[in-house]
Amino acid sequence: MSARILDGNALSADVRAQLAESVKEVKARGVTPCLVVILVGDNPASAVYVRNKVAGCEKAGMRSLRFDYPADTDPKRVLDKIAELNADDSVHGILVQLPLPPQFEEKEVLEAISVDKDVDGFHAENVGRLSQGQRAFFPCTPHGVMKLLAAGDIDVSGADAVVIGRSNIVGKPMAMLLTQAGATVTVCHSKTRDLAAHTRRADILIVAIGRPMFITGEMVKPGAAVIDVGMNRIPAGLPNEGKLCGDVDFASVKDVAGAITPVPGGVGPMTITMLLANTLESAQRAAERKGV
Ligand code: GUN
Repeated sequence: MSARILDGNALSADVRAQLAESVKEVKARGVTPCLVVILVGDNPASAVYVRNKVAGCEKAGMRSLRFDYPADTDPKRVLDKIAELNADDSVHGILVQLPLPPQFEEKEVLEAISVDKDVDGFHAENVGRLSQGQRAFFPCTPHGVMKLLAAGDIDVSGADAVVIGRSNIVGKPMAMLLTQAGATVTVCHSKTRDLAAHTRRADILIVAIGRPMFITGEMVKPGAAVIDVGMNRIPAGLPNEGKLCGDVDFASVKDVAGAITPVPGGVGPMTITMLLANTLESAQRAAERKGV
């Protein structure tokens, strides 16, 4: 049997069409949603992500501004820019692309962003709010995964979910969102002993480890939903060398799983979609505050 494909491109197109309608409504109330993206340095992957984020805003009818800084920038310059943007009522979302160069203290930068404009959901207060089930901006990748699971009619409540990866961007917030949706969650990572023993009992397996095609069919429970957050290049010497691939060996897992996300075209498009959704929500909150 071949797994059902959870199509992130199709879902993303649907959600973005709805967002574009809501953008028109909030603009009619005199508020144009605006996202500011800050990029420091010349990491090529970050440059692609930032370009896609800006383009996504424009396609949805939102404003987007981009500030680029060289890799050797004094962190104070970026912190000053964030302070200026925090005070600017026409800006609804501020995103600093990670990773930052080594002279930056990541935590200091993320916490300089106003909680109300933290559309990445990385500020400690938003993380705390998420962990307590309060209204918060949810980090975009795990938020997009939850949407994919919902759209694919995957039962989360009561499911055994295994998340591989414990990053602040994906693994930890993913575990939090799944817990809140009623799953029993295990978080695995590089120190986990006998990873396959965990993955084989997962009804929902979320993989975010950054290792190409690491999860193979024999590590997956028959019928499981497998969500691949990885974005890698196929290593030299293997067929299709250099092409995009995930952390999951799609070819072997698709014959075991019940549902699976492809790479590309699975989680990736949903990440930017949820960023746009968070920016819109921030603009809608601003319109409420203005009483328009
Ligand atoms: N780097 C990798 N993923 C992300 C993300 O979702 N947001 C930001 N700001 N940086 C990232």
